[in-house]
Amino acid sequence: MSLPVPTQATVYDAAVVGIDATEMRRYAVRSPASGEIIAEVADCTVEHAELAAENAQRGFESWRRTTAFERAALLKAWHRAMLEAKETLALTMAREMGKPIREARGEVDYAAGFLEWFAEQAKRVDGDILPSQHPDKRLSVLRQPVGPVFAITPWNFPAAMITRKVAPGLAAGCSVIVKPAEQTPITALMLAELWREVGGPAEVFQVITAERPAEISDTLMADARIRKLTFTGSTPVGKHLYAKSAATMKRMSLELGGHAPFVIFDDADIDAAVAEVMASKFRNGGQTCVCANRIYVQRGIFDAFAERLAAAVDELRVGQPEDEATQIGPLVSQAGRDKAQSHIDDALEKGARRLTVARAVDGLFVAPTVLADVTSDMRIMREETFGPVAPLIAFDSEAEAIANANATPFGLAAYLWTRNLGRAARVSEALDYGIVGVNDGAPSVPQAPFGGIKDSGLGREGGRYGIDEYLDLKFVSTRLDG
Ligand code: SIN
Repeated sequence: MSLPVPTQATVYDAAVVGIDATEMRRYAVRSPASGEIIAEVADCTVEHAELAAENAQRGFESWRRTTAFERAALLKAWHRAMLEAKETLALTMAREMGKPIREARGEVDYAAGFLEWFAEQAKRVDGDILPSQHPDKRLSVLRQPVGPVFAITPWNFPAAMITRKVAPGLAAGCSVIVKPAEQTPITALMLAELWREVGGPAEVFQVITAERPAEISDTLMADARIRKLTFTGSTPVGKHLYAKSAATMKRMSLELGGHAPFVIFDDADIDAAVAEVMASKFRNGGQTCVCANRIYVQRGIFDAFAERLAAAVDELRVGQPEDEATQIGPLVSQAGRDKAQSHIDDALEKGARRLTVARAVDGLFVAPTVLADVTSDMRIMREETFGPVAPLIAFDSEAEAIANANATPFGLAAYLWTRNLGRAARVSEALDYGIVGVNDGAPSVPQAPFGGIKDSGLGREGGRYGIDEYLDLKFVSTRLDG
């Protein structure tokens, strides 16, 4: 790949066809670990968004005419290129968002998995022949690409949240403009570079970067040529975009906030349950939409579980993202760090007990923390923490656990641990969530549907379902003697 890993003030252009880089304003991207500037990135404007939309429309007209086999071959080549560039991409994510390097390598595999999966799915977009009551009529259903897509992607998975949206879009025959989070534009630009290097048409996948992206989003949301929005981010922004989409009647996929419960029943294998809670809660430093945010433990095992979880959390290695030993890096921003810390402080003020060592950390780091005696009036019980903080709450009965778990406007992911098969089935069916992990704290895979209900959003990404979001149905009725 010809794009360099960001060091001090490396300069990157936007991946928008026809942009004049000489006149371009730029903004600084900083490492959340050191606070140092690592790159200068194109700060695009409304005119660039209009140019991107024009390109996307042109790109769509030719891309939709390619065969599924051609699209699949390009996606496969992109998949191979991504894996070849694994170390570069992982290092870039460690630098621009502070993801520990070992997790960043895992993200490259996860992200590339969407390219491979949707390369295969491209060839499975078929149609239907319907029965007709008229001997001279033939009825069929075609599945056709929705058109140019606008994707707004978050900083917490700088690669995977792009491929999970772009791969099904391209496989379906759509063109895609990605606006990556302002904190993590470089991985996105690298993905666009790899796409072009394997022969992908530049106007079919573009990346538009901006420090204050609201005007770019407004422009593309108002543009009737853009037929679909796919967004991962907060619930308030998702609702705002949903309302805005009405004017141009765009198709919508919204992957929004969560407040995942993890319910541990007293028949659990405590060590195995601790391991899954660690995987769920502390993945990406607690910065995923599916991270456990409330951990309900049945009273009979509460003390034993709490003690073992706290011991495991005290072992977590907090450090620099590029250090191979690091398990918890910094949070991505001052606002993110302040929110997570305020959830700890608020809980302690209201009577929670800290079970872990109060480690001294600075900058954007937050000490991984386990809290007991947590009550429903604490902010952590209502708001998504997005940080390495695990609140524990005791419960008595299965019915109480289900009621508590469902007592939230969110419905993205939920988890439970039990060895009782009947209970596993009953509880997973009763949880009002789009994803349920039974004895599994890390269920996400490219072949499964990802998404939520209620305030957690609309639509599904991944799996055989993910491509449907990028396809319209067309009914064709043909009178043979017409
Ligand atoms: C997210 O946090 O939105 C993505 C997490 C995942 O894919 O598991």
